[in-house]
Amino acid sequence: MVQFRVEESADEEQGRWLWSVYASVFDDYANVETWYEKVWDTHRRRPGFRLACADAGDDIVGFAYGYTGRPGQWWTDNATRVLGPETASAWLGGHFEVVSVGVRPEARGRGIGRGLMQALTSELPHTKLLLMTTSDPSDPARRLYASDGWQVIGPGIGNDTVIMGKLPGGAPSA
Ligand SMILES: CC(C)(COP(=O)(O)OP(=O)(O)OC[C@H]1O[C@@H](n2cnc3c(N)ncnc32)[C@H](O)[C@@H]1OP(=O)(O)O)[C@@H](O)C(=O)NCCC(=O)NCCS
Repeated sequence: MVQFRVEESADEEQGRWLWSVYASVFDDYANVETWYEKVWDTHRRRPGFRLACADAGDDIVGFAYGYTGRPGQWWTDNATRVLGPETASAWLGGHFEVVSVGVRPEARGRGIGRGLMQALTSELPHTKLLLMTTSDPSDPARRLYASDGWQVIGPGIGNDTVIMGKLPGGAPSA
């Protein structure tokens, strides 16, 4: 049985535990030290940090995390550039940024990804939620976000990506 847990902070030990599932999903950093130094140690310290975990007994089978996005951060600054001034001023700055969501391959298709997104984003104080994902609308992640009320608001940073936004409360995005 899977249980969802939300944390508002995470220490180094938790990051190392998270690495086991992160690496099984993304495989984009050579080892935990590199991921920790380049990603986790910065992200976990950002204001508004929130982590959702899907626990199955002693194992972690999925995770999602994000934080408050602000000017001066790499993603917010580059999203401002690609979205253009009008969309950027409507959406960026003080938004909640979903950085990552992943479920172990063998645990997919059982509602864990949806549960993680709900746990991560429910009752946030932010008025705008943002994420970046593939431009392929048939991708499982895109389908998950679309069915959860996220809408494409513009191109992403780099090829074959889009930025999606969601207004908590379900009002349609402009
Ligand atoms: C995206 C991901 C987190 C979904 O996790 P999951 O636990 O399998 O998702 P769920 O079982 O909760 O399914 C939720 C919805 O996602 C969509 N979905 C999930 N798997 C799908 C698949 N294989 N094909 C099409 N849509 C799929 C469906 O809309 C589904 O809703 P439904 O079951 O009512 O049809 C998982 O596939 C994953 O970890 N992918 C690799 C990492 C990734 O791409 N992360 C996002 C980066 S932006």
